[in-house]
Amino acid sequence: MKKVLLATIFAGAVAFAGEANATAPAADANATAAKADTNATATATKGDAAAGKIKFAACAGCHGQKGERKALGKSEVIAGWDAAKVEEALKGYKTGKRNKHGMGATMKAQTAALSDADIANLAAYISTLK
Ligand code: HEC
Repeated sequence: MKKVLLATIFAGAVAFAGEANATAPAADANATAAKADTNATATATKGDAAAGKIKFAACAGCHGQKGERKALGKSEVIAGWDAAKVEEALKGYKTGKRNKHGMGATMKAQTAALSDADIANLAAYISTLK
């Protein structure tokens, strides 16, 4: 019975932590479960909108205080975009892959210094704009 319980906990831990802990021995099931919780919090992609708001000051000049403007008359209005959509766009600009309106280089410069956390935070904030 105890074995079954441990196996269940372990399976849960693996599901949570993904590949990183997949090779952890079953004997460590409890320790792994605790670690998995920590990891789940640390790696969650949910951004911090308050932190994103501070970063957005650098974007407002072109996109508007509330993301309500077409930046340089070219971009779409980004206010209220789904966070995942913003994140995808910003990562695309940062890697130089995205160029939707012929001004990708402008956004590449804007995103060059942003960390993944910055991008997640900005995405969370932009998704709250109306
Ligand atoms: C110098 C003006 C300028 C600044 C500052 C700027 N952007 Fe942009 N942004 C643009 C332009 C121009 C585009 C269109 C790029 C293209 O051709 O794909 C764009 C596109 C975007 C898009 C995708 C919109 C679409 O139509 O596909 C997002 C999201 C975005 N910017 C977010 C940001 C964020 C977040 C910041 C601040 C870190 C920022 N921008 C700063 C000018 C700017």
